[in-house]
Amino acid sequence: MPPIFDLETKTVTLNSGYEMPVYGIGTYSLTGETCISSLTEALNQGVRLIDTAYMYHNEESVGEVVPYIQSLGIAVQGWYPLGGRGYTAELLNDGTITEIAAAHGKTPAQIILRWNLQRSVIVIPGSSNPDHIRENTELFDFELTEEEMERIRALDRGEKHDWY
Ligand SMILES: NC(=O)c1ccc[n+]([C@@H]2O[C@H](COP(=O)([O-])OP(=O)(O)OC[C@H]3O[C@@H](n4cnc5c(N)ncnc54)[C@H](OP(=O)(O)O)[C@@H]3O)[C@@H](O)[C@H]2O)c1
Repeated sequence: MPPIFDLETKTVTLNSGYEMPVYGIGTYSLTGETCISSLTEALNQGVRLIDTAYMYHNEESVGEVVPYIQSLGIAVQGWYPLGGRGYTAELLNDGTITEIAAAHGKTPAQIILRWNLQRSVIVIPGSSNPDHIRENTELFDFELTEEEMERIRALDRGEKHDWY
């Protein structure tokens, strides 16, 4: 059984019994004042999960084990949900994503983030833009259909989108 996301409380209960937010903000490449102001904005918008880490160099391998670790009830968190800073254009301009976004009156970024949430993957989009930070919290007032979930899943070309 994958871990159960409660999209009302916006949390998932971990194996430990602790609750964890299902969305947050990433901080990769954000430094100094930009980092501080972005996190302040996010906290003011209700964000309570902040990702910060050193490079692990093993995400690709770990990512292969997603369905299995979900079957153990372990929550999975996806970084680079929008393709990675500097590499978002391809995903955000994808025809399928933009079409689904228009149908819901949402942005492509919100569609991508919601798609992850509906497949039980925690998201930590990085942003230093107050409008984006707010937008990335507005993921809980719409739902993708099964057909839309499948159309997005079918975009997988098995490609990497960054330099790791
Ligand atoms: N554990 C690790 O080794 C590891 C490795 C990589 C990343 N991470 C974590 O994952 C986080 C996410 O990665 P990332 O920040 O590189 O990539 P990302 O979240 O895929 O993309 C960030 C980019 O998307 C833009 N963006 C954010 N929200 C948007 C929106 N609503 N509409 C349009 N554009 C939007 C941001 O620009 P603006 O600033 O203009 O909003 C930024 O250019 C990192 O910050 C880091 O915390 C962890």
